[in-house]
Amino acid sequence: MPRPAIFVTRKLPPDVEARLSRDYDAALSRADSLPSRETILAGATGKDGLLVTVTDRIDGDLIRALPETVRVIATFSVGYDHIDITAAKARGIAVTNTPDVLTDATAEIALLLMLGAARNATSAIATLRSGQWKNWAPTGMLGMEITGNRLGILGLGRIGRATAHRARAFGMEIHYHNRRRLDPKDEAGANYHADIESLFRVSNVLSLHCASTPETRRIVNRETIALLPDNAVVVNTARGDIVDDDALIEALASGRLAAAGLDVFANEPNLDPRYLDLPNAFLLPHLGSATRETRNAMGFRALDNLDAFFAGQTPRDLLTA
Ligand code: DGY
Repeated sequence: MPRPAIFVTRKLPPDVEARLSRDYDAALSRADSLPSRETILAGATGKDGLLVTVTDRIDGDLIRALPETVRVIATFSVGYDHIDITAAKARGIAVTNTPDVLTDATAEIALLLMLGAARNATSAIATLRSGQWKNWAPTGMLGMEITGNRLGILGLGRIGRATAHRARAFGMEIHYHNRRRLDPKDEAGANYHADIESLFRVSNVLSLHCASTPETRRIVNRETIALLPDNAVVVNTARGDIVDDDALIEALASGRLAAAGLDVFANEPNLDPRYLDLPNAFLLPHLGSATRETRNAMGFRALDNLDAFFAGQTPRDLLTA
């Protein structure tokens, strides 16, 4: 039996590529450059499946233009807002993602962002590195303690819960909003808010963990930022387009918000350049899942899904059921 042929859009960790090459007729990415639509379509020629990442825009037009041979798209990511699931379903193409395995790594980054933003890490590091740090000063570089503060979590799913778990170690009081209230065991004492207005009003630190959907896009905007307490901190490890950049930048520049910790941006990697001039913006280049352990686990999870699909089973993380 010939092995299924897979087009892989980006360079993956060596152990993942080794398993791919062992079990599949895999066209690996040597260049690791962002694939254009034309590159994806050309690469898909004669392939049974695609292994893609968050950097690849798999929209409806692209899906409709894919060769008939392509029956599965496995994304090396938990998020799947870059894939038109409805179009894939209509073409009978299975789509899978990689939940669970990046929960801890992403929650760690959420805590790093909270601390980095609340403790003025951006301006403090710049002061030190530019040789401007002249002495320790009782009133210099003061930030805000997250200890004992209220953490509002928008989207208490896997990553939101793992973030809440870590934040409890800082004595933070956890509040959340989801469309539906969770079971008490999953809430673990977190206070439910039936609407985001009520959540924002109590959130000294607001951490975003919802998926990017038409309902959540730009949900952090002028009106909702106005609800946050004075000197609040906003943290985003979810997706950039959940935030209205104009509104957030304005609130950071005016001091309405104390700080923001951002790992994700609209139009990555071309983030709004105004963020770079804000000393109270603590910025990371989409590092949420960027640990060796997690990137391996994401790759293996994507391969488990492909293995199940080609064995005629239902992949564990099927999104097109
Ligand atoms: C995902 O998997 O969706 C993340 O954004 C990548 O870290």
